[in-house]
Amino acid sequence: MRLAGRVAVVAAVGALALALGGCWARPKPAPPVTAPAPDPDARLLPAGRGRRDVVRYCGDCHGLDRVVRTHESRAAWATTLHRMLENGLDLTPAQLKRMLGYLAKHYGAA
Ligand code: HEC
Repeated sequence: MRLAGRVAVVAAVGALALALGGCWARPKPAPPVTAPAPDPDARLLPAGRGRRDVVRYCGDCHGLDRVVRTHESRAAWATTLHRMLENGLDLTPAQLKRMLGYLAKHYGAA
């Protein structure tokens, strides 16, 4: 009885060692580093000058859905863009101008 118990323990330890050995021999691959999924709303933005900057910057803090569902005048877009600057957006004046042109053209007041 005692001997059988010991054999069982040895067998169990052996099986555990084999199992662990198997794990060590085949370490789990690190999860692949993937780029963040592109914003699905980027598809909705029509091609045009300034689009690249809008896609690149305007989906950083919120989704591009905020952009595509907004239709307002050029003056209102200028105000919105300045509010985004206050929110922390960092753009050169040239980028601002391009994006304002794009937004006013494609997302202007109906
Ligand atoms: C630094 C973060 C940040 C970036 C970058 C940013 N936004 Fe925003 N945006 C916000 C925050 C915060 C709000 C909500 C508060 C507000 O309306 O100011 C917002 C709200 C909005 C709204 C909704 C306003 C409303 O009246 O409902 C629009 C439209 C918008 N953003 C457009 C843009 C555009 C266009 C860009 C790119 C030029 C942009 N955002 C980039 C932070 C950001």
